[in-house]
Amino acid sequence: MSVWGARLQESKLVAKTAGVALVTGASRGIGLFISQSLAEHGYSLVLTGRSTSELKAAARHLEVRGANVVALPADLTVAESIDALAPTAEREFGRIDVLVNNAGGDPQREFDAMTWAENEAILQLNLIAPMRLTHLLLPGMLKRGRGHIVNISSIAGRVGFPYTEAYAAAKDGLIGFSRVLRNDYRGRGVSASVVVLGAIRDAGQGQRTADEVGIKMPGMGTSPANAVGKAVVAAIEKDRAEIVVLPGPGRLMKALMDLFPSMGPAMNQLAGANATMLKVIELRKRSASR
Ligand SMILES: NC(=O)c1ccc[n+]([C@@H]2O[C@H](COP(=O)([O-])OP(=O)(O)OC[C@H]3O[C@@H](n4cnc5c(N)ncnc54)[C@H](OP(=O)(O)O)[C@@H]3O)[C@@H](O)[C@H]2O)c1
Repeated sequence: MSVWGARLQESKLVAKTAGVALVTGASRGIGLFISQSLAEHGYSLVLTGRSTSELKAAARHLEVRGANVVALPADLTVAESIDALAPTAEREFGRIDVLVNNAGGDPQREFDAMTWAENEAILQLNLIAPMRLTHLLLPGMLKRGRGHIVNISSIAGRVGFPYTEAYAAAKDGLIGFSRVLRNDYRGRGVSASVVVLGAIRDAGQGQRTADEVGIKMPGMGTSPANAVGKAVVAAIEKDRAEIVVLPGPGRLMKALMDLFPSMGPAMNQLAGANATMLKVIELRKRSASR
């Protein structure tokens, strides 16, 4: 089966134009599902990521199903690359109406074992790049009186997910950034939403880590990757401030974890996350020293 999986291959795209969306992290993982959902809802797409061949395959997959898609490779840890991406993306279809800041990730290693440069790179990819891209695209959106920024965050900080210090800081930063941005610009036609993800199965970093250590991602406690695509579309179309992608009453769970800060880490321990992450770190150290 291709990287897309059966669920994506079956779906059909609709022929309407809802706007133009720039999706970061569109070459693999959850980004594929976000792009697919936006294409299904009539968006023309500018897809970005570093891997040119994977990005082109993602664009081709949507194109043959009738979507208007352009692939623009860029490295979001390089400021010049972000600065070049924004105007190029705007030129492709004449505007960007929606920016989905999805690119992100974390090497999942001990904070003290990483160099400062490695920690800074995590902040750059997960927080600075989304803010910089927004800053570059916001003037055009304000000029047209239309725009929506969707930031993909994580509950890593809320559950105290092990060995994610810089990542959790960046993802919590995105929540604050989204709230203030939304408040400041909604009256001028530009809104912002944050989509906060719990553990996602079928695609992405969590699924890859589970595969690496040979554990099955449980259906209970995780959400399918296509739920993220649906959440992104709902965030834009219903103009939602925050959507939490967790099974059950997501926002209530997140609110409870904020009220009782020991609750998230306790749930992690119960789920075996700490032991699993130590196993992952050890496995990676062993394969690196070979
Ligand atoms: N998977 C989960 O369970 C989970 C849970 C909570 C939050 N999230 C968040 O969901 C988002 C998507 O994650 P995922 O699981 O789909 O991760 P993934 O499979 O590792 O995909 C990450 C995407 O980001 C791109 N990317 C990475 N480094 C980049 C760089 N320096 N410049 C430009 N693009 C870069 C990758 O493309 P290239 O390699 O081609 O550059 C890829 O398209 C992330 O923000 C992640 O933090 C995921």
